Amino acid sequence: MVSRIVKVDPFDLVVFGGTGDLARRKLYPALLRRFLDGQLAERTRIIGVSRQPLDIDAYRARIAETLLPILHESGKAEVPDPFLRMLDYVALDATVDSGWDRLQRMLDGTSPAVRAFYLAMAPDTFGQIATRLGAQGLVTPTSRIIVEKPIGRDAASAKAINDAIGAVFAEHQIYRIDHYLGKETVQNLMALRFANALFEPLWNSSHVDHIEITVAESIGVEGRGAYYEHAGALRDMVQNHLLQLLCLVAMEPPAAFEADSVRDEKLKVLKSLATIDASNAAALTVRGQYCAGASMGEAVPGYAQEVGNKESTTETFVALKAEIASWRWAGTPFYLRTGKRLPRRISEIVIAFREIPHSIFAAEAGRIKRTRLVITLQPDEGIKLWLMLKEPGAGGMRLRHVPLDMSFAETFAIYTPDAYERLLMDVIRGNATLFMRRDEVEAAWHWIDPIHQAWSLSNDAPRPYIAGTWGPAASIALVERDGRSWNEET
Ligand code: BG6
Repeated sequence: MVSRIVKVDPFDLVVFGGTGDLARRKLYPALLRRFLDGQLAERTRIIGVSRQPLDIDAYRARIAETLLPILHESGKAEVPDPFLRMLDYVALDATVDSGWDRLQRMLDGTSPAVRAFYLAMAPDTFGQIATRLGAQGLVTPTSRIIVEKPIGRDAASAKAINDAIGAVFAEHQIYRIDHYLGKETVQNLMALRFANALFEPLWNSSHVDHIEITVAESIGVEGRGAYYEHAGALRDMVQNHLLQLLCLVAMEPPAAFEADSVRDEKLKVLKSLATIDASNAAALTVRGQYCAGASMGEAVPGYAQEVGNKESTTETFVALKAEIASWRWAGTPFYLRTGKRLPRRISEIVIAFREIPHSIFAAEAGRIKRTRLVITLQPDEGIKLWLMLKEPGAGGMRLRHVPLDMSFAETFAIYTPDAYERLLMDVIRGNATLFMRRDEVEAAWHWIDPIHQAWSLSNDAPRPYIAGTWGPAASIALVERDGRSWNEET
């Protein structure tokens, strides 16, 4: 199957942090793939900005080198020249007022429909760069700004960043990326819910026993210790990715698949989350930190050793039980968990339906398990509906839990684009449906802040877990206390 490519008009994309990790690992590969698919028009310019004193040839060579693995995938030996010619470079320290003239000259006199500024930098620079972009006269009515999570480290700092960006850019010009929203299966969740008659009538607490959202990573902090030490799993993953997934699972049907309708519904979910604070955090949350163990068969050090801080109390694992106080969801817990150095990389959403009220089958038929809908985001995108079916053959009625299995790779037989490919093209096309609005980000922090406060008030350190295991035993107990268990069927 061939996906449909709609070409986008030429645009100028200015990437602050143009030599950084995000640009090299995610943004340029995504842009090259869109180029190779014929989506980028001639006269498109991608302007890297960073402090490093590179000339354009050195910059292009550096980016070309990063892109080699992608070329190998597509059977090419070199980055195509027309793509390299789209790349430009400006050496500029965006955290000071001087030296902006070269970028100004570069952007002056060109009038592509869209000018987008991507701030692939630390969030504490967002406000000041937005201010400078405004002061330097670089912001046109069709300009856009793209910022990455985490936006701030609590509600107050997020507000300050949003205020500073908002003083220069109107809300509709601001694209706050949560790359989980660009993942194919996450978008499929909306198709599954709102393009099929089957699930939506059952999508409520009368039929759904509980919901589980797991984002497990096998990697550790990968050289990002300095950032991670001040973030931790709650800020790094739960405040954004996991809460966004929860919103999409739990929201009411939006009036239309359109930015503000979808975001209005997500916001209502965030506002309905029951508070977790010092009064109940011990019962509803578990935080952990990995210690030395093995990952994918190799011995790995513990987190504290990795970041060189023996006293570190940063959590690399969080499990929590969230409840949504609404007519649809009261009585259906949402179990969330995420962690680094877990046994494997798996992100999935499990909708566990209620047990049948009565079994007509004899005990020999076997235990009747819940119907579960498992939506796998990665690594093998797909949807499985686990049902009880009769084991084939003569010899009585024996029931088995088996999946109706739809693997996207097999069904669609096309390459699954990286989230950034979709999201970058959405920015250029002006489609903000998969981006976070200011009020969503702030509402998410308002729910997260009391959890942090509760943790810092308690004297407990994160519970240790051995790298390569599923986190502290307490996270299993969190679910088992309720007579349930984390999904183990794959
Ligand atoms: C990022 C986090 O937002 O998401 C990282 O900062 C994490 O810590 C990453 O590793 C996970 O993204 P993905 O797409 O690999 O699941």
